[in-house]
Amino acid sequence: LQIREIETPAVLVDLDILERNIATMREKLSARQCGLRPHAKAHKSAFVAHKQLAAGAIGVTCQTVDEAETMVMSGVNDVLLTNMVVTHSKINRILNLLKHSRVSVTVDNLENIRALGFMADEAGKILDLVVEINVGQNRTGVSPGRPALDLARHINVQRALRFKGLMGYEGHLQCTIPNFDERSKKTREALAPLIETKHLIEDAHIPVGVVTAGGTGTYNITSAIEGVTEIQPGSYVTMDHRYRMMDTSGKDFGCSLSVLATVISRPSKERAIVDLGWKSVGLEYQILGWQGMPVAKNDNGISYSPGGDEHGILTLSGESTNLKLGDKIEFIPSHCDTTLNLHGKFYGVRKENVEVVCPTVRR
Ligand SMILES: Cc1ncc(COP(=O)(O)O)c(C=O)c1O
Repeated sequence: LQIREIETPAVLVDLDILERNIATMREKLSARQCGLRPHAKAHKSAFVAHKQLAAGAIGVTCQTVDEAETMVMSGVNDVLLTNMVVTHSKINRILNLLKHSRVSVTVDNLENIRALGFMADEAGKILDLVVEINVGQNRTGVSPGRPALDLARHINVQRALRFKGLMGYEGHLQCTIPNFDERSKKTREALAPLIETKHLIEDAHIPVGVVTAGGTGTYNITSAIEGVTEIQPGSYVTMDHRYRMMDTSGKDFGCSLSVLATVISRPSKERAIVDLGWKSVGLEYQILGWQGMPVAKNDNGISYSPGGDEHGILTLSGESTNLKLGDKIEFIPSHCDTTLNLHGKFYGVRKENVEVVCPTVRR
């Protein structure tokens, strides 16, 4: 199958670029003490995760129980779930995975810790927990210092639980500060309380085995912070338009991801309609006022705007005014995470050819 024969809309991943990104991350971290636990939330693909593991990743990070199950069923033997699992059925699913793989879960709440401890005990399992600290994203996580120490103590008094370490994800700094020096300063400031909390817990004679943080926008900053044992970037393998605009990630990693669309209507010389709408490409950054639109990969003079669920409206100038019905165009999406989840598969391509059709966890 050739790219031009693929039915659209479809997600493509250029395997040469993907593999280069994986090799680049390995090289960049090779002189550092810090491990790499890539986040699978963007690519949602066991195929990609195994390539990352083969290149030295110490395990995989997931955001949902579905992703964790997919990774474990594919043979990944070390998964960190960076999200809270609070319902009976999801806790059970995590406990079942422990038969097949090491799985650890983040927590930020005593009631949740008790529920996890009770259910793990009933199941005769030992569950590793990572206490998440809020380092400024104001999403999940307890305050640094004493509240985190208290949770670590509560974990270790439960016979079915083990305190594994700390997480502090600086999500608010990943792609909001294009300048590297400024991003670096803010990241170091945000993560200082995480490292101080590690020392506080160790002073209380509780070993902190893991300190995990970092994403694609901060991978080269966070991996150099003393005390951080692993980083968890996700987008670097596929990249997207938003990360492409950032000074370091944009230089270090190539964009392997694109969405293929077909021209389905040609209302006027300066306007073409493609089969790429809300349901096929993540557009939510537009609402946030960031770089929100997909950008045509090769064709200059094409500007995309949304035209509904299954339509995109292209404003054309220059050479692109020659576009014909049936022509195919590759777009770089603004956000990989909210694009890859929409399709349930991607086409792994090399040059003009499809090499693999790769299933992904759908959401
Ligand atoms: C907890 C956590 N860790 C790591 C990442 C990876 O970030 P990125 O895909 O920007 O590298 C994310 C992304 O949102 C995340 O939520």
